[in-house]
Amino acid sequence: MNLNTKITLLCSALTLIVLGGLQVKSAYGAEDSVKLEKQDWSFSGIFGTYDRGELKRGYQIYSEVCSSCHSLEYLAYRNLEEIGFSEAEIKEIAAEYEVKDGPDDEGEMYMRPARQSDKFVSPYANEKEARASNNGAYPPDLSLMSKARKNGPDYIYGLLTRYKDEVPEGMEIADGMNYNEVYPGQQIAMVAPLEDETVEYADGTKATLQQHAKDVTTFLTWAASPEMEERKRLGIKVILFLVIWTAMLMALKKKIWAKLH
Ligand code: HEC
Repeated sequence: MNLNTKITLLCSALTLIVLGGLQVKSAYGAEDSVKLEKQDWSFSGIFGTYDRGELKRGYQIYSEVCSSCHSLEYLAYRNLEEIGFSEAEIKEIAAEYEVKDGPDDEGEMYMRPARQSDKFVSPYANEKEARASNNGAYPPDLSLMSKARKNGPDYIYGLLTRYKDEVPEGMEIADGMNYNEVYPGQQIAMVAPLEDETVEYADGTKATLQQHAKDVTTFLTWAASPEMEERKRLGIKVILFLVIWTAMLMALKKKIWAKLH
């Protein structure tokens, strides 16, 4: 066996060990949660990017449905430019909300229309008000939700699509709670926020529950990882660089050894 064959064998063995390790990890992950249905996301895989239509429709669902209970506090209105809204559209969106500013010359705080640079305005002033409006339950901020839950996108999609009217025999649903197959413990305080035709799409996409869930999940995943596309582009460049680098080193090695023979 010459040196080259040995190195190739060693590299293959290492790759197998690394891949094997990943496999074991995801198998463990699957055990301790309800089985989620894996969706085909536009942003998965190393070449995956966020589908622009889904992002825009997803924002529409967040703003028309989820935003009455959930904040998105890490996002500013101007971030919407990254998903295809024009500056004029963003100005208009921001101006629908009011933020507290000040103090003015008299030392008073005052309300003014939101600007592009303001963060998304939260539906409630604080956690106490949020709980008081939701039977004591707290609608969490959704900015990082897609990262905060295991298999975030599949989980959010499952949560939104798997409310069931029929409760399994022997299960008692507490007052003010709803049966959901995916939520831990299967009882959630949030009433199913989506169904077929909850919102009407301007681009003619069919407004099914599944489409709504997919769109808003894609939007929330972008909100949690807006840098993902850039990260992947860089990753591909690094891999290309390494391939070229390796080829050059191999050529160099050949040249040097040829002289020594
Ligand atoms: C009427 C208020 C209301 C609306 C509208 C609403 N939610 Fe909720 N949501 C809640 C409450 C309350 C909770 C907390 C549930 C609990 O603690 O049982 C919650 C929890 C959640 C969670 C967290 C689940 C977890 O694992 O902790 C997610 C994700 C979520 N909502 C997504 C959404 C999305 C997406 C929309 C819009 C399509 C939406 N919600 C609309 C009230 C709402």
